Amino acid sequence: MRSRNLITISFLIVALTVTAYGQDNTKTVAQKTLKEAYAQKFLIGAASDLRGLSEAELTNVKTHYDILTPENCMKPQRIHPAENRYDFAIADILVDWCLQNGIQVWGHTLGWHAQTSPWFFQAVNPETEEPQPARRPGAGWDPNAPRPSMDEMWRRSIKGEMASREVALDRLEKHIKTVVGRYKGRIIGWDVFNESIADSGDCTTENLRTFSWYQVVGPDVLTLAFKWAHEADPKAQLYYNDYNIEQGAVENKGKHASSMVLLNRLIAEGAPITGVGIQGHWHLDTNLDDVEKAIENYASLGLRVAITELDVTATGDNSGAFGVRQGNRTIPPENFEKQAEVYKKLFEIFMRHADVIDRVTFWGVSDTRSWRFGQGALLFDGQLNPKPAFKAVIEASEK
Ligand code: GLA
Repeated sequence: MRSRNLITISFLIVALTVTAYGQDNTKTVAQKTLKEAYAQKFLIGAASDLRGLSEAELTNVKTHYDILTPENCMKPQRIHPAENRYDFAIADILVDWCLQNGIQVWGHTLGWHAQTSPWFFQAVNPETEEPQPARRPGAGWDPNAPRPSMDEMWRRSIKGEMASREVALDRLEKHIKTVVGRYKGRIIGWDVFNESIADSGDCTTENLRTFSWYQVVGPDVLTLAFKWAHEADPKAQLYYNDYNIEQGAVENKGKHASSMVLLNRLIAEGAPITGVGIQGHWHLDTNLDDVEKAIENYASLGLRVAITELDVTATGDNSGAFGVRQGNRTIPPENFEKQAEVYKKLFEIFMRHADVIDRVTFWGVSDTRSWRFGQGALLFDGQLNPKPAFKAVIEASEK
């Protein structure tokens, strides 16, 4: 009898611990899921459109992640392919599924120079919808011709006269208010502008790209976009998101220095900005001191920080740009050990700055559900087996 009572009491204690914290605190480190390991620190996220995921992959998403970023289906070209046509089908299913399963949603992305249909920038759009441009910039062009610059590719995609600043802004305002308004209260925040800073250039200026919104409207397009997003959902967190913006932080140069100039200007202009998304497309030799210093510098501006698209390639290069060096086809086991070390050091940095970090999102679900397919960049292999990097990330939460 006594032992039965003891069993009942122990059971109750476990049940209360689980419900009080929304997680099982009796688990050992080795048994924890990603979101359990970081429960009191920051949200853990993944990126996917969910469409086409297997049951096992969906279960993996439910098990490990607090929040999901749609990988593609909310990008301007996908969700608003023509001036008079939105396509919310995949995004709606994703948001419903996430909310039914207790997963939060992050919106990605409202303004961007890439994956944004030319109709946004054409003075006159044809009555009948034009075919979508090739998905990959430059795909289908003569491979022997010199590769045109991104500016040039964008200009070639525009048919006829360029829209005026007013027309382009009017379209952007409608786009932002429609998309943000549709998911108001259901999506916790948005990447308002993505990748505005060019890859090389003067680090004493914002060094914005010279085409797309920055050419047709000008630098104030960012401030306006933040204001419109805030009007559409005043409770949503609003982020500026970019890749390689940690680079140069220790020496206060490079893309990082430009990002500081840009963010200071947005704050001065009264943009309702909550934080900065450091994408985190990294590799085995990424400068981790820059990562830590960048987090500190953004926090010093009074901004929150998120790591929004994390992947660490186990071979070859990585960055937010397409077309990086892929590395060896067969990845030697020691690379996965090195990768685990890098992930561990990164999460130790994130833990040290957990007070300013809201979220760490992996860009994909597994090594085969990843835009860096073939470079073994994530925590789970193609069969969803946890890799050495998974264990390292869990262990870093105990420090
Ligand atoms: C950038 C974008 C993402 C995605 C990746 C590649 O980082 O922000 O939406 O396109 O490139 O998947």
